[in-house]
Amino acid sequence: MNKRLMTPGPTPLPPQVIKALGQQVLHHRTKEYADVLASLSSGLKYVFATDYPVVTLTASGTGGMEAAVANCFRPGDRVLLVSAGVFGDRFYDICRCMGLNVTKLDVSWGKGIGAAEVLSHLTGDEKGVIVTHNETSTAARSDIETIGKALKGTGMFYIVDAVSSLGGMEVRPEDWGIDIVVTSSQKALMCPPGLTFLSVSQRAMEAARKNTSRRHYWDLCKAVDFLSKQPPQHPFTPAVNIVMASLEAVSLIQKEGLENVWQRHKRMGEMAREGVKAMGLELFADEKYASDTLTAVKVPEGIDGQEVIGRMEEDFGIIIAGGNRSLKGKIIRIAHMGYISEGDVLDTLKALEETLVGLGRPVDAGKALAVAKTIMDTGGTKQ
Ligand SMILES: Cc1ncc(COP(=O)(O)O)c(C=O)c1O
Repeated sequence: MNKRLMTPGPTPLPPQVIKALGQQVLHHRTKEYADVLASLSSGLKYVFATDYPVVTLTASGTGGMEAAVANCFRPGDRVLLVSAGVFGDRFYDICRCMGLNVTKLDVSWGKGIGAAEVLSHLTGDEKGVIVTHNETSTAARSDIETIGKALKGTGMFYIVDAVSSLGGMEVRPEDWGIDIVVTSSQKALMCPPGLTFLSVSQRAMEAARKNTSRRHYWDLCKAVDFLSKQPPQHPFTPAVNIVMASLEAVSLIQKEGLENVWQRHKRMGEMAREGVKAMGLELFADEKYASDTLTAVKVPEGIDGQEVIGRMEEDFGIIIAGGNRSLKGKIIRIAHMGYISEGDVLDTLKALEETLVGLGRPVDAGKALAVAKTIMDTGGTKQ
């Protein structure tokens, strides 16, 4: 049975990406590789909707998060860190490891945050604000646009973890005043794990050049300077084949059109949410903060979440995720990001319905599919 990854990373690979991964490796100091890197960098600017340089580092998304902190801040700097779940907590740990003076603003799991709440927690001493756009552990998004617009002109650095949103949800670094946006290859960007991509504002670059705090591999000045060389390069040996694969993935997004890609994710999110609700299930995240790239669902009383996940895989070949930490066994997470279509969402809803029936939960047969299909056919709610 072919397995389908409806998980929030890694996500399925398009055939073009798989083909690129199987190519003979290129030497990273050749003209041939430089052409790939040049095309990837301009494609990434399209996908990031930015004119800032977008650097590619060989690391998972966590490495990109650490790079952002290491370049913008010095040990002892005060920052406000918003945490709405596991990945916000991870960013907090990184800031602490790097010696920052971090104030953690905990948001209830399943909710996001907007400008007013962030502003009300600032003391005036902060050098920066760090927010997770799409908290993958809860499927809730924060309003990074209003936060960024409110922070414009304050002089603070604004860093956004867009690891599970970029390429599936709207992000606009310049308009929204985001100094560094971090994402990684294995989610909406349809590649295997191994690369992290960061857009870096002029201000962040200027600060990084004056910042002598400890870093070497994570030096974004080096990364941007090497990218600006003719021909472009990386300071260190990159994961060459994943870079080649990323160029294919980015080209697919360019072909579909970024706004269409965002709309597809929005539609799939709506289908998933309305579908599970039609099954009589409850969403974990407050719908006001609903994510377009994944949906978290409360497991009904008397049913074991791990059993649902196991049966979905065994009986239908559909792999979904469970909850992290205190949510283990209590929620299931269905991702709909990257190389995933509305048809995949329908198949997942059908498999979930049959799984629940198999576990003795009465479900209105076919209702979820009918609701989701209507959204698919009518195109969902347009922004
Ligand atoms: C929102 C978010 N931030 C950060 C990360 C960490 O990324 P990585 O696992 O690529 O290090 C993840 C991974 O799932 C994530 O979803």
